[in-house]
Amino acid sequence: MVSSKLLCVLASAAATSAFDPQLGFNSYVEVENRTIDEIYQAALKEGGTVTMWHGGDEKDQQNSLKEAFEKKFPGMTLNITVDLSKYHDINIDRQIATGDVYVDSVALQTLHDYPRWKSQGALLPYKPLGWESIYKDFRDADGYYNGFYVFNWANVWNTNYVTDGPKEFDDYLRPEFKNKLVLTYPNDDDAVLFAFDLIMKQQGYEWFEKLLAQKPRWVRGTGTPSTLVASSNGSYVASFTTSIGLTPSSPFNLSFPSTSGNFVSWPQTGAILKDAPHPEGAKLLHSFVLTEEYQTATGGWPVRSDIDPPSGYPSIWEMPGTDVTKFSQFMADRAAVERLRFFFEDRIGSAQGLSPLEDNI
Ligand SMILES: *[C@@H]1O[C@H](CO)[C@@H](O)[C@H](O)[C@H]1NC(C)=O
Ligand SMILES: *[C@@H]1O[C@H](CO)[C@@H](O)[C@H](O)[C@H]1NC(C)=O
Ligand SMILES: *[C@@H]1O[C@H](CO)[C@@H](O)[C@H](O)[C@H]1NC(C)=O
Ligand SMILES: *[C@@H]1O[C@H](CO)[C@@H](O)[C@H](O)[C@H]1NC(C)=O
Repeated sequence: MVSSKLLCVLASAAATSAFDPQLGFNSYVEVENRTIDEIYQAALKEGGTVTMWHGGDEKDQQNSLKEAFEKKFPGMTLNITVDLSKYHDINIDRQIATGDVYVDSVALQTLHDYPRWKSQGALLPYKPLGWESIYKDFRDADGYYNGFYVFNWANVWNTNYVTDGPKEFDDYLRPEFKNKLVLTYPNDDDAVLFAFDLIMKQQGYEWFEKLLAQKPRWVRGTGTPSTLVASSNGSYVASFTTSIGLTPSSPFNLSFPSTSGNFVSWPQTGAILKDAPHPEGAKLLHSFVLTEEYQTATGGWPVRSDIDPPSGYPSIWEMPGTDVTKFSQFMADRAAVERLRFFFEDRIGSAQGLSPLEDNI
């Protein structure tokens, strides 16, 4: 008979050590114990470069990360490429499959990829500086991946043309918005697909029929709606499939549904590839992203419990109208995602136009 004492020992071993499919239970990593300057020196010695693939839909969307990182660490180059997460991930898969990994770090919205890559042994376990302060739901207990920052959609409008901004999703059905809405194809971006899923579960299918009667313009990319809302001289005045940060500046204003609607938020999640050519550069980048300095600079909700949200907002956990844990569950059910995507493709057609990274809107 196995003693209860031994069972306790086994249970605590399982709780503290990580299972690595190649190494077995030997991959337990401590939280980074060097200072950021020591990591910086190691990264310089390694060559001073880090290659990152970041999810997004405008080429320059992560220029602020590149600038902040290179300014903080002279001599380092952040070689960053933004593309749709759904294209980045398949190209990472190809690198893994062919044994030709040349990307160091990824930060994607395809949250379902991370547990899969972990179980394939494709990731480097690493707990960056500040790891203990990341909300538990945003980090892998074994350190294979963690949230970088919280992304979200909001109601966004141009204050030159709209005085009473939309708040709940029924507001988009008002006559003043006929021909004036610009929305991202839900069948082109799973985080937009999730927004429509949440709205229709709450408002019913008729809401979508009424929205179609408003004749919205469908576009690729979630940066495109805010660009058109700002720059189309009132042709398009509002959207709910975009983001402008939490502190609006002219000509924008923004709101969040709270009394009946739900909006989408998620931890954009990052990992280091096991065969990364620049692991020290990647470690420096991951530790930098979690600094108070950078968490605050993003202007969004932080992933760390010890950093205040932007002024005027509660923490993402107390924010009405969203559950930041739900998107990863949605993304994990690929069969349901695919059914929903084809539902929208049948109703509004396949996504038309150039990649949002090429269309100059
Ligand atoms: C720091 O972490 C490394 C790697 O996990 C470990 O080998 C080393 O013993 C740690 N050093 C201290 C002082 O804790
Ligand atoms: C920079 O990134 C691109 C795209 O990922 C890659 O092809 C290129 O080799 C990288 N450059 C360096 C110097 O690592
Ligand atoms: C908006 O108005 C400006 C000034 O009249 C004009 O130059 C510009 O082409 C217009 N833009 C669009 C998208 O209609
Ligand atoms: C922005 O919208 C909020 C409601 O969401 C409103 O309280 C505020 O007055 C608006 N600000 C401007 C400058 O229109």
